[in-house]
Amino acid sequence: MLGKTFKSFKNLGFYTNMNKNLEKTIDYLKKKKKILFLTTSNRWSGSKDEPKSALLAKEIASKLNNKVTIIDVAKLAIYVCEGNVSKRKYNDCGEKFALLKDEEKNPSQCHRCWASLNNPDDELWRISKELFQSDCVVFFGSIRWGQMNSIYQKLIERLTWIENRHSTFGESNLLKNIDAGLICIGHNWNGKNVIKIQKKVLNFFGFKTPKELFWNWQYTNDANEESQESYKKAFPKFIKDFEIEVSEG
Ligand SMILES: Cc1cc2nc3c(=O)[nH]c(=O)nc-3n(C[C@H](O)[C@H](O)[C@H](O)COP(=O)(O)O)c2cc1C
Repeated sequence: MLGKTFKSFKNLGFYTNMNKNLEKTIDYLKKKKKILFLTTSNRWSGSKDEPKSALLAKEIASKLNNKVTIIDVAKLAIYVCEGNVSKRKYNDCGEKFALLKDEEKNPSQCHRCWASLNNPDDELWRISKELFQSDCVVFFGSIRWGQMNSIYQKLIERLTWIENRHSTFGESNLLKNIDAGLICIGHNWNGKNVIKIQKKVLNFFGFKTPKELFWNWQYTNDANEESQESYKKAFPKFIKDFEIEVSEG
């Protein structure tokens, strides 16, 4: 189906709502100094198919003059959250003893997560290290069963120590000067609700959550549209809406 290069639709003279979202996001990000994009949707490691959300992240980054670092979270070894907030006796998520004592992995000396200590090959540090050097982070991902995909959810759970630091331990909010956003891609159901909830979640974390960085794209609003035809049409519509040029065999 994708045997040819898709041409840009820029010159056709029409703009969709999606283009407006994209434009507002790019305009907003132009004011930031150092930006981190975290892509969280995935495919099989041997597949040439790239998630749409990851393509969109690259498209936005290409317009921002090398200010963006992209990390594909799906490719990192990140262990699941141990639930230390919820222990019977107390909440010790991210307490001072959970400090990751490693200059290379934790130059800010802020990374405090028991799962990082308990699993020496865990790679969450790659994200926290970059995050604490950035003034903006944008998460990208897909909707799966009405929620953000599981890799996003795993990441958010694993970052709970940053929120727990100020909400439970009364220490400083490390994120007070960092903007966060979420851009997610879906097919037929619940994207808007997910954006609303995750904006609240990232606000609880202590990030600033500007509206320009929160939106979703969904192929259709018909929750029952699961036809093969709709899935075949989704990708061409996606690249048309965002004016993304791709070549694929
Ligand atoms: C397991 C699974 C569950 C899904 N559930 C939903 C859903 O509840 N709502 C929705 O809009 N799309 C759902 N989708 C479709 C994807 O969100 C959609 O195809 C999206 O374009 C994928 O984005 P990506 O290319 O960045 O991975 C689901 C996909 C998968 C693999």
